[in-house]
Amino acid sequence: MVQNYTVSFLRLCRVAGAALLLGLLPGYAAAADADPMANARVVGEKRCSDCHDTENSLFGHTQHAKAFRENPRNDTEKAVCEACHGNGSLHVADSKDKSKIIGFSKGWNTPIERQNAQCLNCHSGGQRLHWPGSIHSTNKLACSDCHNPMARFSANGLMKKAGITETCQTCHQQQRAEFRKKSHMPVPEGKMTCEDCHNPHGSSAKRLLKADSINELCYTCHAEKRGPFLWEHAPVRENCMNCHSPHGSNAEKLLIQPRPFLCSGCHSTTGTMGHALWGNNTTGNTGSAVSPTNLNGAALGNAPNKRMTGRSCQNCHSTIHGSNSPSGARFQR
Ligand code: HEC
Ligand code: HEC
Ligand code: HEC
Ligand code: HEC
Ligand code: HEC
Ligand code: HEC
Ligand code: HEC
Ligand code: HEC
Ligand code: HEC
Ligand code: HEC
Repeated sequence: MVQNYTVSFLRLCRVAGAALLLGLLPGYAAAADADPMANARVVGEKRCSDCHDTENSLFGHTQHAKAFRENPRNDTEKAVCEACHGNGSLHVADSKDKSKIIGFSKGWNTPIERQNAQCLNCHSGGQRLHWPGSIHSTNKLACSDCHNPMARFSANGLMKKAGITETCQTCHQQQRAEFRKKSHMPVPEGKMTCEDCHNPHGSSAKRLLKADSINELCYTCHAEKRGPFLWEHAPVRENCMNCHSPHGSNAEKLLIQPRPFLCSGCHSTTGTMGHALWGNNTTGNTGSAVSPTNLNGAALGNAPNKRMTGRSCQNCHSTIHGSNSPSGARFQR
């Protein structure tokens, strides 16, 4: 009896002391007031399922359910639902007050920063090293704009839609259209996803790219374009985007313009285009792909110069990405 009394007394002293200390720390009391869940306790997932049975059974098929139930690493994971939604005792007592549980749906009004902080408690670093300050983060995306951990909508990654690409395209309509063009990276065919090139969580490179530069990114799959070549074509080394679009194009091979216009954009019309177009075929023939005047202004027939059909300039300059032939200075071999 006496012992118990002493223990309680000591405990009381400690609590009082702590309260006094905290009271002296400016701002703490205000912060505690501002967080309506500060005094909430864990109630355990059984209690949640009393009212949220449907959510509970769908959640049962997810990686989190497996990890938290079968192999919890700590008390937070053991709490299952409350690991993400926060301690639930106050919500159980008053489920109408939206400030008493962390909700991730649009209408629930929990601030985005608070939602994301819940996930980042366990998932900061790694692929999310650059999340703070990334374009998705500064545009106030929530983790749950792409992920829905409440059911198994996708085979992997707990995506909100059936796949990664579909998830991205809910917002990126313009890119969706680009991948519908005649020539495109095999994304719609399911051979690759947006995530093969971008890290949606942030990156040290621009445009959320997964490599330090555009060329480094392209070389990861098109290694033969890396060189080094005996004869380098300057624009290739500088940036693949000088000639290709990354997603799709109506010109063949993802080119930003059809040939010969692609080449003539950089190679002046007075010299190079001229040499390619002399000896024009002047017999009329409609349906030509080439302008009826050459770029020097000289009249052309309606039919393209035969040497310019098909692969155009590349009928002769075939190794346009660079050449290793001793006589390949003009990329003809
Ligand atoms: C007594 C029944 C009851 C219990 C127990 C209960 N909830 Fe709720 N919960 C509700 C009701 C009712 C709502 C909807 C309130 C509304 O829409 O106004 C709700 C809403 C929620 C929401 C917000 C849903 C949204 O739209 O984003 C979350 C999250 C939630 N509950 C999680 C939990 C968790 C986690 C537990 C266990 C700690 C739990 N609930 C226990 C009744 C309950
Ligand atoms: C890994 C984190 C996480 C865990 C664990 C988790 N939830 Fe959720 N919960 C979410 C997210 C994120 C959403 C918002 C989903 C969306 O985008 O609609 C959500 C939504 C909800 C909703 C709103 C209705 C809905 O389905 O959208 C309820 C209710 C809910 N959770 C209850 C629970 C219960 C009960 C458990 C435990 C059985 C649980 N949650 C476990 C993250 C979690
Ligand atoms: C713009 C969409 C998007 C947003 C926003 C987003 N993610 Fe992801 N996340 C993805 C994609 C895509 C994957 C890859 C899934 C796969 O490979 O199957 C992924 C994978 C993951 C993975 C599993 C792979 C790994 O890195 O361990 C975790 C964990 C994860 N995200 C957590 C988060 C968290 C936490 C947030 C919020 C801070 C977040 N994500 C925000 C799209 C997003
Ligand atoms: C308490 C810790 C914890 C919290 C909070 C948490 N997770 Fe996880 N998450 C895990 C664990 C553990 C795994 C399983 C890792 C594994 O299997 O390697 C996981 C796996 C994932 C995966 C990968 C699924 C896959 O296919 O491998 C994604 C995506 C993810 N979490 C997103 C989220 C999001 C979004 C939130 C916030 C709504 C969140 N997590 C909150 C611990 C957590
Ligand atoms: C909820 C909407 C939303 C989803 C889903 C989404 N994004 Fe975004 N994304 C944005 C917004 C908003 C911006 C910034 C404004 C803009 O440039 O359009 C952005 C910007 C980007 C950028 C441009 C970066 C820059 O520096 O200009 C890339 C790349 C990108 N997102 C890739 C992805 C990928 C990959 C996915 C899927 C894993 C995805 N996004 C899913 C909304 C979204
Ligand atoms: C083959 C690699 C690759 C794939 C796959 C890919 N992107 Fe990109 N994306 C890029 C590159 C490279 C850029 C940068 C272009 C530049 O800066 O000139 C880019 C730029 C972007 C931008 C910035 C705006 C713009 O057009 O410049 C957005 C948004 C974007 N991508 C979204 C997506 C989405 C969404 C998907 C999937 C549907 C996707 N990307 C798939 C390589 C890729
Ligand atoms: C993750 C791997 C991957 C990355 C990264 C990648 N590609 Fe590709 N690329 C492919 C695949 C796969 C194909 C389709 C090959 C096929 O169908 O034979 C392809 C096709 C192409 C084609 C031919 C398209 C056509 O219509 O035949 C071009 C051009 C191309 N890529 C350029 C690029 C450029 C430029 C980059 C950098 C922005 C890049 N690739 C990054 C995998 C990749
Ligand atoms: C000076 C313009 C130019 C630049 C810069 C350029 N390409 Fe190309 N690329 C072309 C042309 C033109 C074709 C069509 C080739 C053909 O029909 O033989 C092509 C075709 C391709 C193809 C598909 C056919 C093949 O040869 O495999 C791939 C893949 C490719 N380029 C990747 C790249 C990569 C990666 C880079 C950056 C390192 C790059 N390109 C830079 C002009 C360029
Ligand atoms: C973005 C600009 C750009 C584009 C597009 C471009 N080139 Fe080039 N090209 C250059 C530059 C820069 C050089 C190097 C010129 C120099 O060293 O004097 C070069 C060099 C060459 C050379 C070697 C010329 C010499 O004097 O050694 C040939 C041949 C050539 N390009 C053909 C083409 C063809 C064919 C195309 C279209 C498939 C093309 N180029 C597209 C910029 C471009
Ligand atoms: C019928 C073959 C043929 C076609 C088609 C052709 N070229 Fe040439 N090109 C040559 C020859 C031959 C040379 C001279 C090589 C030498 O002097 O070593 C040359 C030289 C060049 C040079 C080097 C600079 C110069 O003026 O000597 C450039 C740049 C060039 N061509 C660009 C182009 C472009 C751009 C096109 C398409 C509009 C094109 N060529 C089409 C055969 C062709």
